[in-house]
Amino acid sequence: MTDKSSGNAAQLATAADRTTELPILSGTVGPAVFDIRKLYNDTGCFTYDPGFTSTAACRSKITYIDGDRGILLHRGYRIEDLAEHSDFLEVCYLILFGELPTPAQREHFVNGVTYHTMVHEQITTLIRGFRRDAHPMAVMIAVVGALSAFYHEDLDINDPHNRLIATYRLIAKMPTIAAMAFKYSLGQPFMYPQNHLSYAGNFLHMTFGVPCEPYKVDPILARALDKIFILHADHEQNASTSTVRLVGSTGASPYAAISAGIASLWGPAHGGANEAVVQMLAEIGSVERIPEFIKRAKDKDDPFRLMGFGHRVYKNYDPRAGVLKSSADEVLDLLGKKNNPKLAIAKELERIALEDDYFRERRLFPNVDFYSGIILEAMSIPTSMFTAIFALARTVGWLAQWNEMVEDPEQKIGRPRQLYVGADERPFVPLERRG
Ligand code: ACO
Repeated sequence: MTDKSSGNAAQLATAADRTTELPILSGTVGPAVFDIRKLYNDTGCFTYDPGFTSTAACRSKITYIDGDRGILLHRGYRIEDLAEHSDFLEVCYLILFGELPTPAQREHFVNGVTYHTMVHEQITTLIRGFRRDAHPMAVMIAVVGALSAFYHEDLDINDPHNRLIATYRLIAKMPTIAAMAFKYSLGQPFMYPQNHLSYAGNFLHMTFGVPCEPYKVDPILARALDKIFILHADHEQNASTSTVRLVGSTGASPYAAISAGIASLWGPAHGGANEAVVQMLAEIGSVERIPEFIKRAKDKDDPFRLMGFGHRVYKNYDPRAGVLKSSADEVLDLLGKKNNPKLAIAKELERIALEDDYFRERRLFPNVDFYSGIILEAMSIPTSMFTAIFALARTVGWLAQWNEMVEDPEQKIGRPRQLYVGADERPFVPLERRG
């Protein structure tokens, strides 16, 4: 795929009688952008865009979202096709290296990930320092950040080999760390990874297995989880990815950057929404109470929002939610949990919301978090692990974006400017003359 993002037109911008030309850059598909890099030098003005609603911060070849049409492409491939025909490690390869792997490349990559799954034994001591009721995301932020203390050599981020090793390590160790955080909360022994298992199967083994008896991975659960991993693998410049890029732009260790990404993902407006959706469905409790909650979601004086609804970029059905909705039916049926009350409430909630003017006018549709929690809960995965699972799946996206940023000659340290509205310069007032 060629990069067509060169200047192909220009627009004039004038501020305080100083004029500059703003070249317009076009990508492969999607909206063009004004190149404003010379704006301040030429006019003495910045742009103002809280929440980055109109700002592209980088060029990227990894993921494309058409929010109006509800399309998500990784390296040009539709997410629906990847979820249906591929598996998570193959999608990781695609996201990282730009092409689907050949059989030999696939085997090499899967081996590379498989043989990095163990963590340093000292990590167990680190985890034991936490209270038993620590949220798995809190433990993951700390442990992933701490990996920077175990792998000093990765600090040479300009060495592609070092970056590749860090990439393998993080993708491989994330399920181990997430499962350890869960086991610790239960007071059960940590389970070591098993190299003969698949990526998702190994996570299930480390999460649900115990040392006193063999654990048999259910292929239905492993495939369902693998699909959830695929659907969460990358999503271009969202809050957590932008956090990873921003931290990485300072030259910080990738382990520190990914730890910051996990922290950013945790919030309920981002990855934490999958946990919040299940709590919301439990609170709604029955189909009859849905109108009451729809009314609350529309009330500007009530902080309640329909969790799992709305998206900064999608103004149409999030394609990941579509895949998960059919997957929820399939998985719950296979698990003999077809009559799950939360799924019934979720579907009715979606139906009512999509017919309601408030949601239609604002183009609010279900997002990826709306159905994922229901599937995870049916798989007996505890609510507190939902966002941890999102984080382990998103790690590949964060790493691909971090690698792309490090290799991009145009990237500089991320340093936004501000519109200062505080006090102007004034003389210091000694303590005795204050108040
Ligand atoms: N329920 C009720 N109203 C909503 C919702 C919602 N879930 N989402 C947006 N709105 C309303 C807002 O109140 C606002 O209304 P107004 O124009 O009358 O003021 C309008 O829709 C636009 O919403 P914004 O908050 O300005 O949109 P923004 O792009 O900033 O926020 C976000 C997107 C954070 C995802 C928002 O839709 C939300 O809070 N959703 C619920 C949380 C959620 O599901 N997050 C997961 C997102 S996907 C992910 O990160 C993995």
